[in-house]
Amino acid sequence: MNPTTNIAIRAARQAGNVIMRSFSRLDSLTVSEKQANDYVSEVDCNAEQAIIETIRRAYPAHAILAEESGEHGKDDFQWIVDPLDGTTNYLHGFPQFAISIALMHRGRLESGVVYDPLRDEMFTADRGGGALLNDRRLRVTDQKGLKGALLGTGIPFRDQRYIDAYLAMLRALTQETAGIRRPGSAALDFAYVAAGRIDGFWELGLSIWDFAAGALLIQEAGGVVSDIGGGSRHFETGNVIAGNIRLHRELVATIRPHLPETLRA
Ligand code: IPD
Ligand code: CA
Ligand code: CA
Repeated sequence: MNPTTNIAIRAARQAGNVIMRSFSRLDSLTVSEKQANDYVSEVDCNAEQAIIETIRRAYPAHAILAEESGEHGKDDFQWIVDPLDGTTNYLHGFPQFAISIALMHRGRLESGVVYDPLRDEMFTADRGGGALLNDRRLRVTDQKGLKGALLGTGIPFRDQRYIDAYLAMLRALTQETAGIRRPGSAALDFAYVAAGRIDGFWELGLSIWDFAAGALLIQEAGGVVSDIGGGSRHFETGNVIAGNIRLHRELVATIRPHLPETLRA
């Protein structure tokens, strides 16, 4: 395994300890609202600090982009950190949240780690080296099309600009598939596509730290991640579709008629 992936694993475990220590005292946490429906707690910040310290100790020259504290330094290598993905779930005691850490070199993903501290599930990927869940190799499903497929999604809860378009997509896909889940942690949703637990996924308005690691997991598990219009600007737009090659194609085709002009990147 790439040494950078090992550092990401170590950092994710440390953040996992911070997160689990507070999971039994949620009522006493300090929480603030960054913007409408967007919460941050002391746990997010402490977990992020633990991750940054671990990365810094191993790679002092590397740059870091972290959700809560922003950009640290400039370098060809940049770590992309979401210390707690699924904060709303976490604050409600809803057991679906994760830590997401990716490393990019000049914009190309090198390492990706998504860690679920509740289930002790460590999803890891090295560019060109495949994806693993703990020690088991991951592969996306070979689901042939929408009929019978189980999909994941994220329902818009902050920015409501595209709610009608989103609901039209949801309606179309509800009618075509076996079911749709909204677990509430995009990082884990991506990891679950890579692990074959869901066949595909789509969401509007993600940030790069929500799915940088997850995108490498899916890619290394044989799947495809794209912008919602099917193009490759997903890290810029944050509007994403993922799945195995055939399902991805069908998802793009089913969603396209409902896409507002401005989202056809
Ligand atoms: C959120 C989760 C959620 C997704 C949101 C993200 P956060 O991340 O990934 O599933 O729907 O768009 O912002 O804020 O809990 O780190
Ligand atoms: Ca997130
Ligand atoms: Ca977060």
